[in-house]
Amino acid sequence: MSSWIDACATTEIDEEDLISWEHEGQKIAIYNTEEGFFATSLMCTHEEQSLEDGMVIDCVIECPLHGGRFDICTGKAVSAPATVDLVTYPVKVEGDRIFVQI
Ligand code: FES
Repeated sequence: MSSWIDACATTEIDEEDLISWEHEGQKIAIYNTEEGFFATSLMCTHEEQSLEDGMVIDCVIECPLHGGRFDICTGKAVSAPATVDLVTYPVKVEGDRIFVQI
């Protein structure tokens, strides 16, 4: 059963950036993009590399290790060497808090 978890304040994530967040052992990236807030799994699917230090370009996250890219909104791998999509999580904003459905 999934539930909405209070993850962080909207002000904790700079624009065009992400933070790493962990809930019950699940490592999650929460992004602030011009399209809004999104959440995906934190680890790159190419190798076990955290995306935390990756670069957010519009609605794409670029892995800091080999430059694989993922669509932040859909989790889809859009650039080699990444070929496996990220898991995505629903996000909602209430007041100044970000909730992630897990
Ligand atoms: S570990 Fe992310 S692209 Fe290789």
